Amino acid sequence: MAKGYKYFEAVEKHAGKLGILTAIMVSIGGLAEITPLFVEAHAITAVEGVAPYDPLRLAGKDIYVREGCYTCHTQMIRALRAETQRYGHYSISSESVYDRPHQWGSKRTGPDLARVGGKYSDEWQRLHLMDPRAVVQASNMPAYPWLADEQLDAADISARMRALQRLGDPYTAADIAAAPAALEGKTSLDALVAYLQGLGVSPATEAAP
Ligand code: HEC
Repeated sequence: MAKGYKYFEAVEKHAGKLGILTAIMVSIGGLAEITPLFVEAHAITAVEGVAPYDPLRLAGKDIYVREGCYTCHTQMIRALRAETQRYGHYSISSESVYDRPHQWGSKRTGPDLARVGGKYSDEWQRLHLMDPRAVVQASNMPAYPWLADEQLDAADISARMRALQRLGDPYTAADIAAAPAALEGKTSLDALVAYLQGLGVSPATEAAP
């Protein structure tokens, strides 16, 4: 019998000991995989052309999240031929440094929206959100007609920007002071369209894949 077998036996024949040692090993493996990612995440900075959201687009992003658009749409183009041919250059992590929470996702009932900015006119986007079937006959996307009647609440946009500034977004005091005025007279629909039209238009990824 091999030397040391009794140690194996002591562990293998006791579910409790085996469980504890397995948990320790998995934790070490987990730490070895996860810790570098935390360090790396802080090292990722915005690529050229990716700026923090202006107030209107920031409000639009909140509406996108509130309305659950992410339940049907991803914002992450995979590095696969079929994806890049359909949607454009694959997504890179430094494009979403200002997305909190990120909208990558994996559930696609509708198409990926990572590079939808500029694909259609503002008017098309408005019509489509008000009544998707008015522009895409067979669409099963829900309509969001209330967005056009909802005036944006300018009261909390500065507070939101200050919170993001604390997390590292480079907003200046002047940006924050000017924010409420930028939302004046705007509706949720204006904000959401502005958000969509800005998606994925960074010059770093303009070159064909
Ligand atoms: C139930 C699933 C579903 C939800 C929720 C949904 N969509 Fe869609 N969306 C679709 C489908 C399906 C299409 C493709 C047909 C069409 O263009 O209408 C689509 C298409 C789109 C397009 C056009 C994309 C392209 O490249 O042609 C945009 C933009 C869009 N959706 C935005 C939104 C926004 C913004 C919201 C949230 C307010 C939203 N969607 C919510 C299913 C959904």
